[in-house]
Amino acid sequence: MALRVAIIGAGPCGLGILRAFEQARREGAELPDIVCYEKQSDWGGLWNYTWRTGIDGQGEAVHGSMYRYLWSNGPKECLEFADYTFDEHFGKPIPSFPPREVLYDYILGRAKNSDIKHLIVFDSVVRRLAYDESEGVFLLTVENLAERRSKTERFDRVVVACGHFSIPNVPYFKGIERFPGRVMHAHDFRDAREFEGKNVLIVGSSYSAEDIGLQCYKYGAKSVTMSYRTKAMGFKWPDTMREVPLLMKLDGKTAHFKDGTTREVDAIVLCTGYQHSFPFIDDDLRLRTNNRLYPNGLYKGVVWAKNPKLLYLGMQDQYYTFSMFDLEAWYARDVIMGRIQLPPRAEMEADIAAWQAKEDEGKDCYDAIDFQTAYCEDLAKLVDYPDFDLKTTGELFKEWEHDKDADIVRYRDKAFRSPITGTMSPVHHTPWIEALDDSMRTFLDQPRAGAA
Ligand SMILES: Cc1cc2nc3c(=O)[nH]c(=O)nc-3n(C[C@H](O)[C@H](O)[C@H](O)COP(=O)(O)OP(=O)(O)OC[C@H]3O[C@@H](n4cnc5c(N)ncnc54)[C@H](O)[C@@H]3O)c2cc1C
Ligand SMILES: NC(=O)c1ccc[n+]([C@@H]2O[C@H](COP(=O)([O-])OP(=O)(O)OC[C@H]3O[C@@H](n4cnc5c(N)ncnc54)[C@H](OP(=O)(O)O)[C@@H]3O)[C@@H](O)[C@H]2O)c1
Repeated sequence: MALRVAIIGAGPCGLGILRAFEQARREGAELPDIVCYEKQSDWGGLWNYTWRTGIDGQGEAVHGSMYRYLWSNGPKECLEFADYTFDEHFGKPIPSFPPREVLYDYILGRAKNSDIKHLIVFDSVVRRLAYDESEGVFLLTVENLAERRSKTERFDRVVVACGHFSIPNVPYFKGIERFPGRVMHAHDFRDAREFEGKNVLIVGSSYSAEDIGLQCYKYGAKSVTMSYRTKAMGFKWPDTMREVPLLMKLDGKTAHFKDGTTREVDAIVLCTGYQHSFPFIDDDLRLRTNNRLYPNGLYKGVVWAKNPKLLYLGMQDQYYTFSMFDLEAWYARDVIMGRIQLPPRAEMEADIAAWQAKEDEGKDCYDAIDFQTAYCEDLAKLVDYPDFDLKTTGELFKEWEHDKDADIVRYRDKAFRSPITGTMSPVHHTPWIEALDDSMRTFLDQPRAGAA
C-alpha cells in the first residue's frame, strides 16, 4: 500500500514540497498518497495578504503578518526558484525589489503551473498531531472550518510547513497598560498611513523594526524612534528617525530609555519578533527553538531526529527563502520516498550539534550569509533540484548588506543580475521612497529603455 503523507500548510514551503513531488511524478515516479491541509481559504501563506487582524472570519487566529506597501526586503535574484524563473513568469526582466503582490503572483504562477491544487484541502486546520508508537503511525486531527467537523486520520509521514512568523512575541514594558495611544505588535501592523503626523515608537532592531520604521517615515510619520535591546541597527537614518537604547518604562506618553533619555510618543509598534509556537503538535514531536539559522533537533534543518518520519520545512531564520525552502522540500521528498537513507539518531544529533557550533562562531551578518549559503550547498549536493550558483547568490546578499549600510532609504533602488538566468534587472522607474502606489500594474509598467 502507498505511504500516506500529510503536509501541514500551503505557503511557500508546503507548495514547494508539492512541487517536488509533482516533479518526481512527471519523471515517472510512483507517488505516495499525499494530502495538504491549509487552514486558510487560499494558498500562498503569508503572501496571501489579509486586512484582518486578531481573529479571522472563521474564528481562528489570523496567520498573516504582512502589511500594505510591503516590498521585498531582499533582492528577488536571491530568492528565485531555480525551476521557474522570474523571466519565465513575467515574460520580461523586472526590477530587483518587487512589492508583495508581485511576489505573490510569482509564487502562485509556479503553483498553478504544477498539477497540485487538487491535493490541498482548504479551510482545514490541523488541531492535533500525535504519534502512535504501537502502530508506528501519526494521528492527525483536522477540523474542517466550513462544516465544523473534525476527523482523525492515520499518516505514515508528516511534513510541518506551517511557518513561524505568525505568533507574536509580546514583551511587557512597565506602564504600557496606561499608555494613552495605539499599541500593537508588528503582526497586526497593516497600514503605515495610520501614523501620518504621529511620533511613533518602535521596539526591536531587526527586519520588522527597520522596515516598519521606514514605512512610517515614507507615509508621513512626524518622527520614528527605534529602541534596541542588544545592538542598534546602525544605519544612516533620515533626520526624523533615530535609534535609542531599550525602553524601560512608559509614563503616560513619555517613553523612558535605558540611557536616561525620554521621548513623547503617540503610538507604539512592538517589532519584537515571533515565537516558534506549535501548540497542536504533541510534546515529543514539537520543535522548540529560537529563531536561528540551524534550529534545534532538525537533521539537515529538516528531519526531526527523534522521529525521522516527521519533517519540518522553513523553520530557520531566513536570508535565503524560496530557493532554500525548495532545497529542503526536495530533500524531504527524497527522504520520504526512500531515495535518501538517514544515519542513526546519534549521528544525526552530532551533525546538528556541529552545525550549531559553527553557527555560534559567526560574528556578523556576513558570517550568517556564508553559513546559510553553506547549508544550502550541503542540501544541493544531495538532491536533483536544478543547479544554481549559490556562491554568487551569497555574494549578492553581501552586496545588498553593503547597499543598506550605504543608504537604507535607497537600497531598494538597486538592480541585480540573476545567478540563474544571467538576466540583469532593470532599475525601477520610481525610487522606492517615492513609489506610494505598490500595485503590480504600476510596478510592472516599466517604460522601455530610451522611451520618453
Ligand atoms: C512581515 C514579513 C515579511 C516578509 N517579507 C519577506 C520578503 O520580502 N521576502 C522573502 O523572501 N521572505 C519574506 N518573509 C519571510 C517568509 O517567512 C517567507 O517568505 C515565507 O512566507 C515562509 O513560508 P512558509 O511556507 O514557511 O510559511 P507561511 O508563509 O507562514 O505559510 C504557512 C501556511 O501554513 C498554514 N497553517 C498554519 N498553521 C496551520 C494549521 N494548524 N493547519 C493548517 N494550516 C496551517 C498557514 O495558514 C499558511 O498558509 C517575510 C516574513 C514576514 C513575517
Ligand atoms: N519584506 C520585508 O520588508 C520584511 C519586513 C518585516 C519583516 N520581514 C521578515 O520577517 C521576519 C521576522 O523579522 P522580525 O524583525 O519580526 O523578527 P526577528 O528578526 O526575530 O527580530 C526580533 C527583534 O525583536 C527584538 N526583541 C525580542 N524580544 C525583545 C524584548 N523583550 N525587548 C526588546 N526587543 C526584543 C530582538 O532583539 P535582540 O536583537 O535583542 O534579540 C530583535 O531585534 C524576517 O524573516 C524578516 O525578513 C520582512
